[in-house]
Amino acid sequence: MAEMDEIMGHLEVVGNRLHVGGVPCTEIADEFGTPTYVYDAERVLENYRRLRDGLEAHADRGVVVYYAVKANFNPTLLRALAGEGAHADVLSIHETEFALRTGFPRERIMFTGTSVTDETMEHLLERGVLINIDSFSQMRRLARVAPEGLEVSVRWNPGEGAGFDPKVITAGARSHGRPIKFGIEEGKVLDLCREALDLGLRPVGLHQHIGSGWTGRDIDRFLDTVSLTLGMAERMTGLLGHDLMQVDFGGGPGIPYRPGQEEFPVERYCEGICRQVADSGLGVERICVESGRYIVGDAGVLLTRVNTVEGKSGNTIVGVDAGFNTLLRPAFYGEYVGDGFREAYHEIVDATRVEGPRDRCTVAGPLCETGDLLAIDRWMTLPEEGDVLAILGAGAYGYSMASVYNLQPRPAEVVVPAKMLVTKREDFEGLARSYREGELS
Ligand code: LLP
Repeated sequence: MAEMDEIMGHLEVVGNRLHVGGVPCTEIADEFGTPTYVYDAERVLENYRRLRDGLEAHADRGVVVYYAVKANFNPTLLRALAGEGAHADVLSIHETEFALRTGFPRERIMFTGTSVTDETMEHLLERGVLINIDSFSQMRRLARVAPEGLEVSVRWNPGEGAGFDPKVITAGARSHGRPIKFGIEEGKVLDLCREALDLGLRPVGLHQHIGSGWTGRDIDRFLDTVSLTLGMAERMTGLLGHDLMQVDFGGGPGIPYRPGQEEFPVERYCEGICRQVADSGLGVERICVESGRYIVGDAGVLLTRVNTVEGKSGNTIVGVDAGFNTLLRPAFYGEYVGDGFREAYHEIVDATRVEGPRDRCTVAGPLCETGDLLAIDRWMTLPEEGDVLAILGAGAYGYSMASVYNLQPRPAEVVVPAKMLVTKREDFEGLARSYREGELS
């Protein structure tokens, strides 16, 4: 159990049952049904504070931690983070609205999008949030509708990325063969700034985001990009003739998904960023980062109930009610383990009987797809039908990537310790609402 205690951090085992935020998982499953996401709001705030305090301890100027709303847009968590003083990183009209309505004032919101429509930009201007420019096209279309002197930030591509899966590396020319669509490449940033000035925009920020879910091993590579970004900030400052308001180093710090995996070295990350900013001699007003996973990832578990345990062709299939419609990550992403590429890992604990006889289990969802597997050949407690499984590390990119594939409704969301049902399980009415009236009657 020693290894499990490590990954579980704030989770507890009491009488062989798993508790989250002091509440038994089985009690939540009985009361609210499954699948259900459960978030520990205290843990979210702890994670946020660790990052903010780490930066503040080393910074010689202002610090801003944007919370990347895409990781989890649960309004109760957003409200808690807004109350704590967090800023919000948004990428769509509705994320902007969720942030505004949960208490993030417009001055604390930055929009970083890609393939941004004119409609979106008009909405952002109305709301008055800071816009991060991702392309010449976006800049030109924005300038057509923006008031003279609008302050903007510029997302550049520092040329080197990092991330747990090729699909989430966002800097460089290509990621394992995939062309990278984000940001402005090095040779064009100053041209973009000149054109922005001509068009009546005022660049005040520089931004990078190199990718997602990288770990302590990638910190040096990340810090290299910090140095490149500061170099670019210096060139921008020279061109503009004034200090930048902010430099944003993006998100990406990972969390341990596997037992025994190292915690993200937040201290080294914060110290490394702040020292480089200080050494740069730049008069930038504030240092920004924008984390999603690090803040909410380990604060969430997904509860799913076992309905089938059966041997099939030599495989132990554990059938549960959550599939990749509920948690997409294992089916959609992979990670390099040893010399192989395996499904993105989430630790699975039998919350009804944490310890019990073990077996090599494949945990499978209810979708009609071979790839609908949450764990493959995993040595774990062999569940019994009716048990509740807790899928750990599900606070980030879980519910926010859920779909209604196979017309499986999206799950419920409960926040602990208050045991508050924030999001109802989607029902037939919810699913039917988008369709033309009468079409389903
Ligand atoms: N800033 C920008 C501009 C981003 O695109 C992202 C994530 C973040 C910040 C936050 O990254 P984080 O700190 O959470 O790593 N769906 C994937 C992750 C995709 C991340 C997309 N962008 C997953 O399930 O792991």
